[in-house]
Amino acid sequence: MKLPTASCGVSHGSSTVVALPIGCTQPQQAAGYSDKINILKAKPSLTSRRITLDSTQKLFDKSRPFQSKVNIVGENIRLFGISGSPRKGATDYIVLEALKYAEEKYSAETGYFPAMGKKINFCIHCDYCIREKKGCIHNDDMQEVYTKLKWADALIIATPVYQGMVSGQTKVIMDRCRAAAAQNPHFILNKPGAAFAVGGDRIGGQEPSIQAILNFYIINEALPVGGGSFGANLGGTFWSKDMGAEGAKEDEEGLKSMRKTIDRLMKLTLVVKKTGKLNKNR
Ligand SMILES: Cc1cc2nc3c(=O)[nH]c(=O)nc-3n(C[C@H](O)[C@H](O)[C@H](O)COP(=O)(O)O)c2cc1C
Repeated sequence: MKLPTASCGVSHGSSTVVALPIGCTQPQQAAGYSDKINILKAKPSLTSRRITLDSTQKLFDKSRPFQSKVNIVGENIRLFGISGSPRKGATDYIVLEALKYAEEKYSAETGYFPAMGKKINFCIHCDYCIREKKGCIHNDDMQEVYTKLKWADALIIATPVYQGMVSGQTKVIMDRCRAAAAQNPHFILNKPGAAFAVGGDRIGGQEPSIQAILNFYIINEALPVGGGSFGANLGGTFWSKDMGAEGAKEDEEGLKSMRKTIDRLMKLTLVVKKTGKLNKNR
């Protein structure tokens, strides 16, 4: 069927066509509502590009069990997770669980950076990075983050909720990425990124915290990913009841939101990798 090319379209019926307008980053999010999906081949035009995903099409068909491990294995997805918690608590537990899940289900290669015990200076807005374009003036543990961001195909940033927002550590890590962008504005171009937030309260500011991380992805040309409706929405949300890792372990709904988000993250990463090696600046 015909679809206006300038919209992310979903139609109900025997088939659904997903058109990707320029700047529309989440075709499968729309597609997730449909029963059958045809992602059609077409030449890129000024306003739209359509994509053929013969081998990955089945990934979006909810009626089928997950059968694409071979495809994923072939793509060798590299997933990098950051925990912005200063301790070994709920956030650390959740990121490690997410990386394990991605390794087991998608054969992902993983990297992990916990803020705990790390020396990460504030951005002091000296503009050295802008003037010199040689990275940050601080030579501290952020070097590992810069290296791993470059290495990764997909990203997770997880934060504990502090005062209804991301932790200071998470914020400083994101701020310090200005130096990476000054050197290369496309340093995480088209890398799908997910966000997790852990609060001591059930509704303690998880969503604003996630939104801050998703904004970081948008600002830096990455592709923000949620976990889809009915359970994960903007990403992984957790209620630790202030019981650290033990609390996170007991939060079955939170763990479900993590798994849904990782599923979306891995599938979008596969699409990006299969449709033209978009990360040209790596
Ligand atoms: C300074 C500070 C501020 C906090 N503010 C909030 C808050 O606004 N909302 C909330 O739900 N929990 C808040 N908490 C609780 C933590 O988010 C919660 O214990 C979380 O599990 C900590 O993550 P961690 O175990 O990975 O360190 C706060 C904790 C600290 C230390």
